[in-house]
Amino acid sequence: MKKDDSQLASEIVIFGVLGDLSRRKLLPALYQLDLCGLLHSDSTIIGAARQDISGEDFTAFVMDNLTEFVGKGDSSSLDKEVTERFINRLNYQKLDFKDTSAYQSLESAFGNKDNSRVYYFSTPPAIYGDIGAGLSEANLINAKARVVMEKPIGHCLASSKVINDKVSKYFAEEQIYRIDHYLGKETVLNLLVLRFANSLFTNNWDRNCIDHVQITVAESVGIEGRWGFYDEAGQMRDMIQNHLLQILSLLAMEPPADLSADSIRAEKLKVIKALTPITRQNIKDKTVRGQYSDGFLNGIAVPGYLNEEGANTNSDTETFVAIKAEIDNWRWAGVPFYLRTGKRMPAKHSEIVVHFKAQAHNIFKDNYSDLPANKLTIRLQPDEGVELQMMNKIPGIANQMNIQENKLDLSFSDTYNNARVVDAYERLMLEVINGNQSLFVSRDEVEAAWTWADSIIEAWHATNEKPKAYAAGSWGPVSSISLIARDDRQWVE
Ligand code: BG6
Repeated sequence: MKKDDSQLASEIVIFGVLGDLSRRKLLPALYQLDLCGLLHSDSTIIGAARQDISGEDFTAFVMDNLTEFVGKGDSSSLDKEVTERFINRLNYQKLDFKDTSAYQSLESAFGNKDNSRVYYFSTPPAIYGDIGAGLSEANLINAKARVVMEKPIGHCLASSKVINDKVSKYFAEEQIYRIDHYLGKETVLNLLVLRFANSLFTNNWDRNCIDHVQITVAESVGIEGRWGFYDEAGQMRDMIQNHLLQILSLLAMEPPADLSADSIRAEKLKVIKALTPITRQNIKDKTVRGQYSDGFLNGIAVPGYLNEEGANTNSDTETFVAIKAEIDNWRWAGVPFYLRTGKRMPAKHSEIVVHFKAQAHNIFKDNYSDLPANKLTIRLQPDEGVELQMMNKIPGIANQMNIQENKLDLSFSDTYNNARVVDAYERLMLEVINGNQSLFVSRDEVEAAWTWADSIIEAWHATNEKPKAYAAGSWGPVSSISLIARDDRQWVE
């Protein structure tokens, strides 16, 4: 595609460029932006890591990963001209992140010193402070510099404060972009449009009209060789504290005054702060934690969590969590939000189901005694789309009021001619380059989310119970069914 230099020119520095996130997501995302003409011709990409590799080896590394993750294994499917242009933007810098005197070398790799600077910290959070110190020492942080921080930011409220404090020594809050990649997903962003561009939903989005909401983020993968990291985190820290709470807050927030970062983040924060605390007193009624055991996925035997390679066989880290969350405010009092997420579930399948209240009076009872309530399903991934379950008359003359439940289905792939679903990292990277923080998480949100999550984690420890086993390939422990069945409801499968 032709270049369009309406985007800002940037020096993009990826710290930890040889790592997994960079290979799978960041480099492919930048390539896609270049392909779409969204990287300024003057932008440079500098990869920094500890390893001593040559420029040629770095180019080969980038090519291998573009082939794998963009070309799906076929390098000839990459655009030749764009690939060449992209490779020409690259520069590799060996860097010991802890050696503050070494950072000066980065400057020589900058293409244009007037460009804005994007520092992407794709390293363990424990060294974010060191990188900030090194950049500051080398005088590389100016008003045009931005820093991108990957989750998890800390392990709990206290550790997240330590990390945020260290980074804030060098960067102002307006320069800090905390990534939650779910905020870059097409369908998550569409929640704003669905809620605030359609009066049908805007005006019916509260306790008077909605009975309850279910949010499911199921993954079929296990922990994919990340045992060490995952075992320290578990599904609560890895998914609920960030991704699920972000979805929940977008779903439940008050209408923001506009689309600015300040307005959106302020409204999301209010929701997270209004979550009813879950403590030792109510932990058993409100949550279920599970851990997958040996099972089958698509007919293939897969090992349980404790039998994964490198596993500590005594671990009681949870790989599944279900929570009945409640929001203590005027709009949502009495409306439960059931959250459910787990590894090694039957399929990769994420969706939100908003259950409206049933009709107060049924005039069709001769034909349909129990009118089902409307249900709005927002399919986050895969098969992105929105579906509204409603009652409809079956055409015909014999029985005047023969009615059935049917659906309006807006499938994104059908409606938009199978348009490629943009990866979240492409969108987020572009937003950083353009200096828009709306799709990033504020420090206050991170801290409010930890406050709520910490209380649950602390209560689990206090009960001293092991997570409930569920077979890999199933929808989680039986007790997660009871969690919702106690309220006379059931999960949508
Ligand atoms: C990451 C978690 O943040 O999100 C992973 O660390 C998880 O454990 C992943 O698998 C899920 O992301 P996606 O985009 O595949 O739904």
